[in-house]
Amino acid sequence: MRTICITGATTGIGAALVETLPENGDTVFLHYRSQEAACRALADRCNARGVTAFVVQADFAADPDGGARRLADTVAEHRRSLDVLVNNAGGILTRGTVGEVDYATVSGTINLNLVAPMMLTGYLMPLLVQAADENGRADVVNITSIAARTGSPTSTSYGAAKAGLENFTRGLAKEAGPGIRVNSVSPGVVDTPFHHDTTSQEQLDRWLTATPVGHHGTPADIAAAVRFVLSNDFMSGAVVPVNGGIQMI
Ligand SMILES: NC(=O)c1ccc[n+]([C@@H]2O[C@H](COP(=O)([O-])OP(=O)(O)OC[C@H]3O[C@@H](n4cnc5c(N)ncnc54)[C@H](OP(=O)(O)O)[C@@H]3O)[C@@H](O)[C@H]2O)c1
Repeated sequence: MRTICITGATTGIGAALVETLPENGDTVFLHYRSQEAACRALADRCNARGVTAFVVQADFAADPDGGARRLADTVAEHRRSLDVLVNNAGGILTRGTVGEVDYATVSGTINLNLVAPMMLTGYLMPLLVQAADENGRADVVNITSIAARTGSPTSTSYGAAKAGLENFTRGLAKEAGPGIRVNSVSPGVVDTPFHHDTTSQEQLDRWLTATPVGHHGTPADIAAAVRFVLSNDFMSGAVVPVNGGIQMI
């Protein structure tokens, strides 16, 4: 019986992680920012299949430290150990070139995609260590992005934050081993609400043309990669690209 914490659990990749990772008897902590009703419905579906679900709200762009603290405190209030943390919440606040975007956009984007995962992982570290002591293993999986390698024009702070998250993955893998594995899964273009307000149809079509497998990814593709990482005993500090071949190095 594992305890799992998933940030950004309500939509897209997060919702697929909730469907894929917890099994009957497990406990899952579901974080949301804005979609309370959807998150509570997801928790009800978990409870109906024998997964105990807790729901926690936090805005990581506005208050990465306070939000991370509140989520970690809720986990610690209900469970003494944590087997799996998936830092999935993320996104682009507002697109614009450097010079166009203001400080709130830059700092908020870095808070959401880098500072919050770092603070949350730190606050949950005692519970991860406890799980590793008891079961021989605990896992942190960071959902990064192809943008960490390619750069992200008109959302440079997003690409920079995700690159930072991949570097955090490597540093923490060295720091927290041998009991705790730390890996990143790096999606390419995945069909989720992420793109609804921030990516034009023309851009999506250009990416599609450049993708060898000939289609964009699904949230289930990313969840399957996370499941694989969690099943492997010899991976830590890795970045697993899941991008249909649009970027190969
Ligand atoms: N889709 C892609 O093509 C793609 C590609 C590369 C990387 N990724 C990464 O994959 C992860 C999941 O994204 P997705 O594609 O599933 O997008 P999504 O459907 O838009 O989900 C994003 C999640 O992050 C949460 N979130 C957004 N802003 C937040 C904030 N300020 N504070 C706390 N939580 C916040 C949202 O919570 P609410 O819904 O409750 O507001 C939502 O659950 C992200 O880290 C994203 O960067 C996605």
